[in-house]
Amino acid sequence: MQRKGWFFISALSVAVFLSGCNSDEGVGGEGSGSGDEQGEIEIFSWWTGAGEEDGLLALIDYFEEEYPELTVNNAAVAGGAGTNAKAVLATRMQGNDPPSTFQVHAGEELIQTWVAADMMEPLNDFYEENELMDKFPEELIEMVSSEGTIYSVPMNIHRSNVVFYNLSVFEENGLEPPTSLEELLEVAEVLDAAGVTPIALGDQEPWTATHLFENILLAELGPDAYNSLWQGELSFEDPSVVHAAEVFGELLDYVNTDHASRNWQDSAQLVGEGEAAMINMGDWAHGYFLNDLNLAVNEDYGYFPFPGTEGSFNVVSDTFGLPSGVSNPDEVKEFLGVLATPEAQDIFNPLKGGIPARVDADESNYDVYGQSAIEDFRNGALTPSLAHGSAMSEGYLTQANQAVNIFVTQRDVDRFLSSLENARSE
Ligand code: GAL
Repeated sequence: MQRKGWFFISALSVAVFLSGCNSDEGVGGEGSGSGDEQGEIEIFSWWTGAGEEDGLLALIDYFEEEYPELTVNNAAVAGGAGTNAKAVLATRMQGNDPPSTFQVHAGEELIQTWVAADMMEPLNDFYEENELMDKFPEELIEMVSSEGTIYSVPMNIHRSNVVFYNLSVFEENGLEPPTSLEELLEVAEVLDAAGVTPIALGDQEPWTATHLFENILLAELGPDAYNSLWQGELSFEDPSVVHAAEVFGELLDYVNTDHASRNWQDSAQLVGEGEAAMINMGDWAHGYFLNDLNLAVNEDYGYFPFPGTEGSFNVVSDTFGLPSGVSNPDEVKEFLGVLATPEAQDIFNPLKGGIPARVDADESNYDVYGQSAIEDFRNGALTPSLAHGSAMSEGYLTQANQAVNIFVTQRDVDRFLSSLENARSE
């Protein structure tokens, strides 16, 4: 069972990310941000693109219908798929100007960045009052908790280890979805020979390449060893990890040449338009295909588990908590109470492309992809995403993204893996 031991409480602290932040001064006082005025909830996220924004706006509409006396200030920060937003958030938190609530990944990003800095309020009473303790998978509540104290409310579950592919391109080339890394390389070779870009990548922000690498690791190691790697029990020198890095290098030979100038949407677009065959992207890409490109699942594009990872579900979960220092915590809790309902989750997630975090949401609200993801989430071995802040601290991830970025151009396996190993102790 992979549902335990997600947390590698490393010595890496929030220092890298929050250097200079003094939590004694930074929290607890009266907030001064625009988002904590009475009657107003400021929701901070990086959801500005198609699918993501559609989900967020629908959620806000629903909340405003439920609470007409409260208004929502949508403080989404565009650009960099979270890179820009996280920088703005860090500045605001350090300046004692927290938004009412903000998007944060379950796992180490929440715990080691914000909880460790003493900047979040406990939500155990809120969970009890709203009868939420049995409404989310236990493992997920564990991910948003530290030493039994709960710090945020999960909005969604996204799957990291899924590949979306262009159905016509596969059909024209007589291809079936690959089920192992070897088959993935074979399929890539066939496509390459036919003049089609096999794999779309848009690593203008390096997390997309880290995303691909984490799933190669999962395929090569399996869920137990993948978890051990992040828990510090498996070395980056292990032959299976070395092999994963080699495969990563081989797959990078099959990506679009302009990968460094594209973001995740631009690269997904290549697949949607048939210029590339496949993309490994979280299923927010499903929301993007549906809402931006107006494509139809299983007509224009299909999906399969990242080859070699069937039976595992690499989890990305966006959550929202209550920062310390907001002046209207009860109103913010009203918002958190709404986002925790099955109704809100079922409004938001079909548009966003993921699945509800609640165990009792209504599956009939989800399309064929969503229903299959719900099923796989229930039965799969759950593993934490590195690229999306669950497996390791923000400080580690920053260094991992840098190491990946260098590897993409230099392809030096030894250097790459020693950077990843050394980052553990920095
Ligand atoms: C992830 C986030 C998703 C989606 C994605 C791309 O980190 O969890 O909800 O927003 O970035 O923007």
